[in-house]
Amino acid sequence: MDSRPIGIFDSGFGGLTIVRALVDLVPSESLVYFGDSARYPYGPRNASEVISFSHQIAEYLISTFDVKMIIVACNTASSVALDSLIERFDRPIVGVIGPGARSAVAASQSGRLGVIGTVGTISSGAYLREIEGLDPTVELTCAACPGLVEFVEAGETDSEQVKVLASRLLYPIKNAKIDTLLLGCTHYPFLARVIQDIVGREVVLISSAEETAFEVKATLVKSGLSAPDSASGKYTFLSSGDPERFKELGHRLLGPELEDAQQVSWKGIL
Ligand code: DGL
Repeated sequence: MDSRPIGIFDSGFGGLTIVRALVDLVPSESLVYFGDSARYPYGPRNASEVISFSHQIAEYLISTFDVKMIIVACNTASSVALDSLIERFDRPIVGVIGPGARSAVAASQSGRLGVIGTVGTISSGAYLREIEGLDPTVELTCAACPGLVEFVEAGETDSEQVKVLASRLLYPIKNAKIDTLLLGCTHYPFLARVIQDIVGREVVLISSAEETAFEVKATLVKSGLSAPDSASGKYTFLSSGDPERFKELGHRLLGPELEDAQQVSWKGIL
């Protein structure tokens, strides 16, 4: 049994979709969430920059909170930084690409799958490799969706502008005759209604959140790191951006568990 918190990070609000699934699946676990809002979006950045941010945040979560495990709740960071994080840190690190790919492959009846994500995630080829490894017969259509993350960060999850941009970006997906669409960015579940209206009701939308939470639970059990069942999880939210804004929008997106947010200034850490 281990009562230390789990560390979890994303470029901003997207990883809250994973927090939601964790709060529901493993309520005894305490979480420390870090949203790197001062440096989002990660999607257009080059891989070496995203790798360096990811290491910096993991290091901070371990040295400041002694987190027992780290969840990379960002597809862009998972697709380029997961291997080096696992190599460097002496505690379990869980990413979102594997869980998302498994859920999508399991859900598809026709074997025609779509994946949408940031430019960084799609151009890394991480989903292509992962899905091919699971089932080489799957026909995959990928589309990068630059700009969608910014709408979520601005709290615009249902505006006319986001609908116009999403329908333009999803055009290749709509024409690919897929039956399952993997939301390969943790921000996108907040746009699920807009995306569903564009691709049609018959397409199943998959978020990596639930499967990631299952993987976290299995890893905790396997490593003997679960919190005692009698514990009730405590939640700490940190942002490198404006903490008031993080609290306000985060509360709207996640729910009552996000009551407060503290600011982390990188200048104090580096
Ligand atoms: N939530 C991040 C992801 O899953 C968004 C990356 C970004 O900031 O562009 O990729």
